[in-house]
Amino acid sequence: MLQLTNVHAYYGHVHALRGVSLKVPEGKIISLLGGNGAGKSTTLNVISRLVQPKEGNFELQGQSMNKKSASEMVKNGVIQCPENRRVFPLLTVEENLKIGAFQRKDKNIKSDMEKVFSYFPRLKERVQQKAGTLSGGEQQMLAIGRSLMGKPKVLLLDEPSLGIAPKLVREIFKIIKEINKEGTAILLVEQNAHMAMEISDYSYILENGHVALEGDSKELKTNDEVRKLYLGG
Ligand SMILES: Nc1ncnc2c1ncn2[C@@H]1O[C@H](COP(=O)(O)OP(=O)(O)OP(=O)(O)O)[C@@H](O)[C@H]1O
Ligand SMILES: [Mg+2]
Repeated sequence: MLQLTNVHAYYGHVHALRGVSLKVPEGKIISLLGGNGAGKSTTLNVISRLVQPKEGNFELQGQSMNKKSASEMVKNGVIQCPENRRVFPLLTVEENLKIGAFQRKDKNIKSDMEKVFSYFPRLKERVQQKAGTLSGGEQQMLAIGRSLMGKPKVLLLDEPSLGIAPKLVREIFKIIKEINKEGTAILLVEQNAHMAMEISDYSYILENGHVALEGDSKELKTNDEVRKLYLGG
């Protein structure tokens, strides 16, 4: 449903993406892996239109997105949960969640908030707490919850496991899987290649702004090169 073809992006003279092509089919979890500076966040930013590519094509459900703005992408159901769990620290949990729904006009906002609380009961217990006083893991839950409030068809997650204790990472990954089961396609950026391949259908590995390897996650996991370089042997 979402497709990038031969995308090139620059920051000044830095050639950050050098011909990235990838697909996120309906209902799937796709992981986007690779080391620091490989271009993972830039790829998400191209999709959410925060970065304008110099070259290449971006289609959503067969329609060109090359000229869309970031807010049109949100309206189209392409929603990014940014790196470093950015929440509004001085606003409460509830206020942060409402911001996630700011472009919606339908009447299901309240029930969607309940849905977020069913995924993350800890947020419900802290609904009037200022987001800045939540633990790191709770802030990550809130960042994901806020993205869900935008009713994503495609959810772009940028390193949800970053800086979070292993137990909570497992919990968050379980919920990512549940969100996907309810029909949301997910593009998951991760440094934790092991966990990402565990839950995804297909994986792309970026190196220096291009796709160095791709394949079925199950198969890639047993690839010798992938094991050596990304899975610690
Ligand atoms: N705003 C920016 N201005 C200049 N260069 C940038 C900017 N954002 C990213 N870059 C450069 O683009 C390249 C790709 O960065 P990107 O953030 O996409 O990598 P990443 O794969 O997400 O890395 P990480 O795992 O560290 O988050 C890097 O060389 C980075 O220094
Ligand atoms: Mg990044």
